Amino acid sequence: MPKRVLVTGGAGFIPSNFIHHLLAKTPYEVVSLDALTYAGNLDNLSGAMSHERLSFVHGDIRDAELVRDVVSEVDVIVNAAAESHVEKSIDEGAREFVTTNVEGTQILLDAVREAPVERFILFSSSEVYGTAEHAPMDEEHPLNPRSPYAATKAGADRLAYAYYVTYGLPVVIVRPFNNYGPRQHPEKVIPRFVTQALQDRELTIHGDGHASRDWLYVDDDAEAIEAVISAPLENVAGEVLNVATGIDIPVTEIADAVLGALGKPSSLKAFVTERPGQVDRHIGSTDKMERLTGWRARTSFEEGLARTIAWYRENEAWWRGILESENRASVSSS
Ligand SMILES: NC(=O)c1ccc[n+]([C@@H]2O[C@H](COP(=O)([O-])OP(=O)(O)OC[C@H]3O[C@@H](n4cnc5c(N)ncnc54)[C@H](O)[C@@H]3O)[C@@H](O)[C@H]2O)c1
Repeated sequence: MPKRVLVTGGAGFIPSNFIHHLLAKTPYEVVSLDALTYAGNLDNLSGAMSHERLSFVHGDIRDAELVRDVVSEVDVIVNAAAESHVEKSIDEGAREFVTTNVEGTQILLDAVREAPVERFILFSSSEVYGTAEHAPMDEEHPLNPRSPYAATKAGADRLAYAYYVTYGLPVVIVRPFNNYGPRQHPEKVIPRFVTQALQDRELTIHGDGHASRDWLYVDDDAEAIEAVISAPLENVAGEVLNVATGIDIPVTEIADAVLGALGKPSSLKAFVTERPGQVDRHIGSTDKMERLTGWRARTSFEEGLARTIAWYRENEAWWRGILESENRASVSSS
């Protein structure tokens, strides 16, 4: 019998790409549970929704009864559902971040205590580290989350670890660095730059743009999670694994690369005030992940950015639809 894999948040950016990957490259059956918040978009699963190995459940990971039912039917859980936008957690308050990211994880973990699974993979985030105290950041780097979003991810990360220690649940915690690629909401920096440049609008950069990140192409992340599912459990149970490239690039260079690729002038760069809670530098150590699972990132930044730009060019209706619905929402609330 092929494994049944529950992917929470399947209509979001990383999880939808991961589901497309699982359906194309593995025999696994996939169940997705998603509340379809503003960040969830069923168009992200177009072509997959009618696939015989995908079942989609519209529901909330904070709904304990529903979660118990869904968890009792699966072998592996990949908890990727989250409120994921750093700036939203700063500007609009942390409540949804705490309840979805921490309480939702607790509800899933408690469901696993009742109906055991083969493994439970938690999407944590490199944001839990805060600014790099040393580079590259390995999994022993102190946790100094600098935004409400990051603090809730650190809470879920350590809660999952505690369930491994206390109850022996087969937990694996992954800390991906900054993903980019097709189907990413235009609120995030790379799709924001691409869609702003395609509209000949200014690319707004916080501070002087020197803040750097370790940029991971989303298909590489999908391969990483697949590697975590198939690694021997004794290698990975209770472990924290960075999912990174080991290379960091400043935000201002990303803006230059996007403008260069689209043949737009560098005068489109507009520097605005630094955001609070900014993380200065992020670069991940790749050693542990490679040692324990054999995975390493394959896509160069140039190649990943070219594929990303091509996708946003070809899918203008997708991102224009999101921008228009946000404009309508801001007009009706003002
Ligand atoms: N994007 C990144 O660069 C990055 C980096 C590291 C870690 N992560 C983590 O990876 C995961 C996926 O990130 P993403 O950027 O693809 O997110 P996303 O915001 O694109 O998607 C999140 C999905 O979760 C769903 N969701 C939100 N609240 C829910 C709830 N209460 N119940 C069920 N579904 C709910 C949304 O509808 C959406 O489909 C998150 O856990 C995020 O914290 C993301």
